[in-house]
Amino acid sequence: MNELDTLVTSAQALFAQSASPADLENAKAQFLGKSGRITELMKGMAALSVEEKKSRGAVINVAKQAIEAALNARRQALADAELETQLKAEALDVTLPGRSRMSGGLHPVSLTLERIEAIFGSMGFDVAQGPEIETDWFNFTALNTPQDHPARSMHDTFYVEGGSTDAPNLLRTHTSPMQIRHAVQHVKRHQSLLDAGQRMPEIRVIAPGRTYRVDSDATHSPMFHQCEGLWVGENVSFKDLKVVFTDFYRTFFETDDLVLRFRPSFFPFTEPSAEVDIQFASGPLAGRWLEVAGSGEVHPNVIRNMGLDPERYIGFAFGMGTDRLTMLRYGVSDLRLFFDGDIRFLSQFQ
Ligand code: DAH
Repeated sequence: MNELDTLVTSAQALFAQSASPADLENAKAQFLGKSGRITELMKGMAALSVEEKKSRGAVINVAKQAIEAALNARRQALADAELETQLKAEALDVTLPGRSRMSGGLHPVSLTLERIEAIFGSMGFDVAQGPEIETDWFNFTALNTPQDHPARSMHDTFYVEGGSTDAPNLLRTHTSPMQIRHAVQHVKRHQSLLDAGQRMPEIRVIAPGRTYRVDSDATHSPMFHQCEGLWVGENVSFKDLKVVFTDFYRTFFETDDLVLRFRPSFFPFTEPSAEVDIQFASGPLAGRWLEVAGSGEVHPNVIRNMGLDPERYIGFAFGMGTDRLTMLRYGVSDLRLFFDGDIRFLSQFQ
């Protein structure tokens, strides 16, 4: 092997060992750079004759071209390898199924509460929220249900810490304490009008929320929802209650084929009191009377506890079980389904 062949072979070997473009450029400099081997050989021809230059130059050129060819091939190979690595790193399997975005939604009972708020809102009712841990006063006494009143045993109460020994705090057994809480605030806000003997704006409010009783079966849950309603003014009667209720239930169930019945009943905080039943003319529940709310004219003692004069102020109140309404609206037969948190059940309401 002559000197030039050896040179080409060693260039090829060095290029092949170069693992990166930077290594390769260093290797190239050894042969083709300013003081590279080929360049040196060219310089070495200075002393030769024209004839010798010609033949020698041609041989060196052949070697130079071979080295350049090897360099370019190696450059290409390194670039290809780099691209390959990059493509591998960014590999994307377009055949994989896409990631779907889970969309949440409101619980059916929340949907009902929103609906109730919208319907009563359109009739001019405010929406009030109150505490779920209540005092004995707001839950019972202020609602005309004093200690030892037999009506207290209608509610199986969860008692909690706090309060006094004979009147411990409790988880509210109904939303009715909100009647007092809201009315007292309302009266406070308008006290100057009342003091001046002027007319106070009517109290018109609903108070939806969670309520608690020691009770559990297919139609009772220890935690359940109610919506309280209160309309107090100077001349608010049972007739207004009937109009409001008829309007409400027909709007809620989206049918005019629905009638109401008031069944005499007893609640300590209303006099007279009535249970409200509704009946559909058609559909799966047609012909059955369904109990949907308790109601009545607010008892004078309760009006007094609101800070108002029962000789002047009168009104109605009601309390409806909103879980029951949700069951009726969606045809659900077991109340517990609402609170099991089973996504297969809940996702049907989206
Ligand atoms: N608080 C009663 C209950 O939970 C329901 C009720 C009845 C509320 C009559 C009222 C009412 O405001 O006037 O059983």
